[in-house]
Amino acid sequence: MKRILLTFLLLATLLPAAADEGMWLPSLIASRIDDMRAKGFRLTAEDIYSVNRASMKDAVVLFNGGCTGEIVSDEGLLLTNHHCGYGAIQAHSSVEHDYLTDGFWARSRAEELPNEKLWVRFLVRMEEVTERIAAGETAQEIIRKAEAEGESYKAAVEQMYYGNQQFLFLYEQFDDVRLVAAPPSSIGKFGGDTDNWIWPRHTGDFSVFRVYASKENRPAAYSPENVPYRPKKSFSISTRGVAEGDFTMIYGFPGNTQEYILSDAVRYIAERSDPAKIAIRDGRLDIIRAAQESDPALRIHYAAKHASIANAWKKWQGEVLGLERRGICAAKADYEKRFDAWAVDKPAYRDVVAQLRDEYARIADPYFAREITFETIAALPARYSAEARAEEVFARREATERALFRYLAGEYARRCPVQYQVPEFLDGVAACGSAEAYGEKLFEGVWNDTDTLAIDALRKGARRMLDHVGWLLGTGSLRNLNSGRLNDLYTVYIRGLREWDTRRAFYPDANLTLRVAYGRVGGYEYADGEYHKPRTTVDGIIAKDNPEIYDYDIPQALRDRYAAKDYGRWATTVEGRRTVPVCFLATNHTTGGNSGSPILNADGELVGINFDRTWRSTMSDIAFDPEICRNIAVDIRYVLFVIDRIGGADYLLREMKLR
Ligand code: ARG
Ligand code: GLU
Repeated sequence: MKRILLTFLLLATLLPAAADEGMWLPSLIASRIDDMRAKGFRLTAEDIYSVNRASMKDAVVLFNGGCTGEIVSDEGLLLTNHHCGYGAIQAHSSVEHDYLTDGFWARSRAEELPNEKLWVRFLVRMEEVTERIAAGETAQEIIRKAEAEGESYKAAVEQMYYGNQQFLFLYEQFDDVRLVAAPPSSIGKFGGDTDNWIWPRHTGDFSVFRVYASKENRPAAYSPENVPYRPKKSFSISTRGVAEGDFTMIYGFPGNTQEYILSDAVRYIAERSDPAKIAIRDGRLDIIRAAQESDPALRIHYAAKHASIANAWKKWQGEVLGLERRGICAAKADYEKRFDAWAVDKPAYRDVVAQLRDEYARIADPYFAREITFETIAALPARYSAEARAEEVFARREATERALFRYLAGEYARRCPVQYQVPEFLDGVAACGSAEAYGEKLFEGVWNDTDTLAIDALRKGARRMLDHVGWLLGTGSLRNLNSGRLNDLYTVYIRGLREWDTRRAFYPDANLTLRVAYGRVGGYEYADGEYHKPRTTVDGIIAKDNPEIYDYDIPQALRDRYAAKDYGRWATTVEGRRTVPVCFLATNHTTGGNSGSPILNADGELVGINFDRTWRSTMSDIAFDPEICRNIAVDIRYVLFVIDRIGGADYLLREMKLR
């Protein structure tokens, strides 16, 4: 009995390190490499990040400021998600050439499609500049010096741990990025918004681009003279697949997490902010969905809009469920209590939690007003451009746009704390009799282009109100419920936490800088007695296939391949069946921005492309729970199968390094 207890205690103390939580800075990955290797990784810290030789970081890009991409050939071929390439695919699509529906496969380099305003950034290097800043250099000076090192260099100085450390990130930007291939949406977005954030999943969420450079292999604006970029490093691709328990590593650009916030902030998210934003979007989605169902042209027109509204809407619902189910608020409150008990005789820390609390109470209302404004007034179009008016679909949008104006004006009136409502809005409502009527009046003016003064005044008022809130909060850069004072207090709080909680493995919150996360392929207990296996196959696609349901209507080519079991070299045996793997789950800590990130095996070979998390585990942005938090990847063998067997673009496979 004693021995069992002892073993248990030993295990419990090992637990913090055993969990797969964490988004690590690549330049500091040496501090994690022993743990990584203990979990199966076979390469070195230098293989992950080096400034002296080619390393994995040279094959990972920030894709257009919101996603990640990876280089998979020595000719600049790039993989990312379908939903990351969506804007580009949509821009090249029309009712005649509907690449969203039918897919797109360039048959030669000449057919690869240039994209205005699509760019990728490679990390040249990162370095800590905390001391330079402490010595009096400003971030602007550091940025200016770094950017002067190269022609297309972009630099940024980013805070880690609420300013306890500062890092310079120096990037090289390429602006000629061309669309090479995209599967039909019925593969790339299979399951649509119904399956989004859900496991089991069968989405082939990938698209293919190519980075172009000047003849000298330098970044260059689009030119027909440009040639495929020759990268320092590209990933080899493993076709051997992954099994449950296998080591996995993700290299990418996670956007925003808040792992160290107080229970007060968690309560604000779970009880006030998320529920309000979800409800507002419920109504917007109802209006847009009705339009899409009534008219195929409107379905295409609103496709990207619908997807982007629905994405966060659904994520927030899962986040609230996860926070509640795992009791995150109570757990955080308890953690704060224990910290306070430790800090009671430490003047530097003993008041910090109470002060954070007071500050949250002070700023919650104005920040909430700000969020509501973004979800309502800021979502109203101020103009319909000449381009939009020229579109064949324009006239058919009238009823939908009118309904959106009425609805969003009503929601703003109902939800924004009245002391923060814009005076122009209150006047408009008084004059028209109701918020809806005022919304409709705004619409008439904008739609007919007869009176845009009213919307301009409203937007100006909203801008003024947001400035006022920014002033109250003491900072202009607000990605979360935060303030200048909170930031200062968190600098102290985190420093205190790191002194106190010496067993916790601290890592800086995600801030769209390059990170490494590692873990393993793994299922999880979804509900009592209900285990979710970590992989899906094409058999599951066929089981969901239904020509009557838009989200589940697969291309005939896929049905044919399945019927003929024409899987080529991408077939594998799963539980005795010959099939093609489609998606898998892993324990890697990821967030928005990690879409398109490479998932690598123990040898640093590409085994999948990250594209999602499970619904109820999106609370990992606030608290990572190793029992349920899982990221979702598309298996690289499904990507290759689709390129080969559906796209018939096997020539792309020839430039990849398949292992
Ligand atoms: N949930 C994923 C992410 O946050 C995928 C979103 C795109 N897919 C969709 N069906 N809307 O970006
Ligand atoms: N789909 C997300 C993205 O666009 C990744 C999912 C997540 O939030 O983890 O980055």
